[in-house]
Amino acid sequence: MRVALGNDHRGYPIRGKVLEVLERLGHDIVDVGTFSSEPVDYPDIAERVGRMISNGEADRAILICGTGLGMCISANKVAGVRAAPCHDDLTAEMSRRHNDANVLCLSADTLGERLIDRMIEIWLSTPFEGGRHARRVGKISLIEEEAKKWLPDNCQS
Ligand code: RB5
Repeated sequence: MRVALGNDHRGYPIRGKVLEVLERLGHDIVDVGTFSSEPVDYPDIAERVGRMISNGEADRAILICGTGLGMCISANKVAGVRAAPCHDDLTAEMSRRHNDANVLCLSADTLGERLIDRMIEIWLSTPFEGGRHARRVGKISLIEEEAKKWLPDNCQS
């Protein structure tokens, strides 16, 4: 799978662990950084990675910030992104089974290395269940379509 990785300065301390897990699992990694603890703005990274999901450059993505929340809120503004802030095995699994999440948002402040390892493995290997969940995920896309109608013509591309 082609997996994009993005982090801000607060996510920087755990990006090495995330890269190690992705490499071990044999995924193709598109690493957009940031590559140091120099402060950056998480929406810039989230937008860049979100667009990679939206245009098919990446199949899935992992975003890391202090809490995982700023990245998640920002990425979910990009059409086609279903970003989930996950904290444990269960949320990692269910975000795939029920929500077909395509972006995993991690908190560098709260997650330990063993948990990160397990969550990524679970999240990348768990299928979407489809069925009634496909109907619900379809309704999320409809909200997105509806929101586009509220944009002025010169904002649509
Ligand atoms: C950056 O200071 C911090 O706000 C960011 O990493 C993240 O936790 C935001 O949600």
